[in-house]
Amino acid sequence: MKKHRLTIFIFALMLLQCANIFAQQAGKTDAIYSGLPWYDQNGKVVSAHGANIVQENGKFYLFGEAHSDTSNAFAGFNCYSSKDLYNWKFESVALPVQKNGKLGANRVGERVKVMKNPFSGEFIMLMHVDTLGYKDQFVGYATAKNIAGPYQFKGPLLFKGKPIKKWDMGTFQDDDGTGYLLTHGGMIHQLSKDFKSIIAEINPAITTGFESPTLFRKNNTYYFIGSHLTSWEKNDNYYYTAKSLYGPWTARGLLAPKDKLTWNSQATFVLKISGTKDTTFMFMGDRWSFPKQLSSATYVWQPITFKGDSISIPQYLNAWTINLNTGTANPKSIIRKTILPGDQTISLTGNWKYSTIDSISIIRSDETKASLSFKFNGKQIGLYAVLLPDNGYAKVEIRDKKGKTIMSNIIDLYSKSPMLQLAFLSPVLPKSDYNLTVSVLGERPNWSDKRKSLYGSTGNNITIAKLIIQE
Ligand code: DGJ
Repeated sequence: MKKHRLTIFIFALMLLQCANIFAQQAGKTDAIYSGLPWYDQNGKVVSAHGANIVQENGKFYLFGEAHSDTSNAFAGFNCYSSKDLYNWKFESVALPVQKNGKLGANRVGERVKVMKNPFSGEFIMLMHVDTLGYKDQFVGYATAKNIAGPYQFKGPLLFKGKPIKKWDMGTFQDDDGTGYLLTHGGMIHQLSKDFKSIIAEINPAITTGFESPTLFRKNNTYYFIGSHLTSWEKNDNYYYTAKSLYGPWTARGLLAPKDKLTWNSQATFVLKISGTKDTTFMFMGDRWSFPKQLSSATYVWQPITFKGDSISIPQYLNAWTINLNTGTANPKSIIRKTILPGDQTISLTGNWKYSTIDSISIIRSDETKASLSFKFNGKQIGLYAVLLPDNGYAKVEIRDKKGKTIMSNIIDLYSKSPMLQLAFLSPVLPKSDYNLTVSVLGERPNWSDKRKSLYGSTGNNITIAKLIIQE
């Protein structure tokens, strides 16, 4: 019996040690960092794409698609919570893969959106349900009494007894509490009082394409954002404005500078953050990374700039802060010790080339397993990369002074539109000696859609611009 207790004790100690590295990090993320993996309280990558955020009991709840690195099959919808929008705690798989049926194994479930029904207090989850080949789409719904679930899948949302046979969808809740379903093309459907069916189609399609429909309201203007139809590839998202949800809708052009592909992302939701001085509207976009959507798909969350009733995301902020009391957003400068390519303290294995891109010094390789290693004493390390059309995946590993791997992640350095950005930032670690290794995985994001069109990267390169360290 005593021996048994000792084994349990030792096992518990081992578990604590594993968790420790990430326990250090709890509450340590100090800003919203776009385009790099985020870690939850257990050190796992936050997987919540096609997401939305609901505010409840003084917390933000993030709902999104769980993903795997092996297939596009429905892997459940995850729920995370946060008090500051920076640090995300895994709460639950709010809607798991069902034993059978339309959200069972080998099906597609996407673009989950949750709203609290103001009349019943129930939480209603809407989602795109489909086959793996995207040939049997409809909008489904699930309900729960508690925000983090468990949600019960109820099947298709009906209008006049029939399912809404659309794929990309979103939701919008107006200031009076009325709920709306948005579908690709820009259709707007009014939900019934209990949010469990459709009572009217109040706006016909505005255009063709217009996937990832995302709608928000500022004062008396409605803003409707959507993307072109390019599978998982990012494109220049565009928007319309109107004074009424019934239209008429006026085309207003692009959300971000032309050819920047919405800073390499696709819209999913806009969160309104109201404070005593300001209201910030936060654009939430997905940086998809097929096929490694679990490890390497990231989030592009940026404050929206207003000029009259024009909106834009004029520049990409690697990091920014939001003051939840005042509602004010501010860019955050990341001032750290910088190590540039060519620094003698970097050691290389395999074939690497030094070069410059737009006067930025870079080091680049496409040889599988070629690696760059760097020993440092500090608390945190980050990596700036130039994302390029012929880049692929990089493997990032951190070892402690005993040589034990304390974290390992695959990051995606591909972008159809070249951009220099912070592509990895480790959690805050206990100050110590560490070794960072970045190596060429020899794989790249590429795929074909249901029309057999090919998308994605043309090479396996990784292109590194600098390392940053917090000592
Ligand atoms: C674009 C959509 O917006 C995504 O939700 C997903 O369905 C992909 N297409 C699949 O190619």
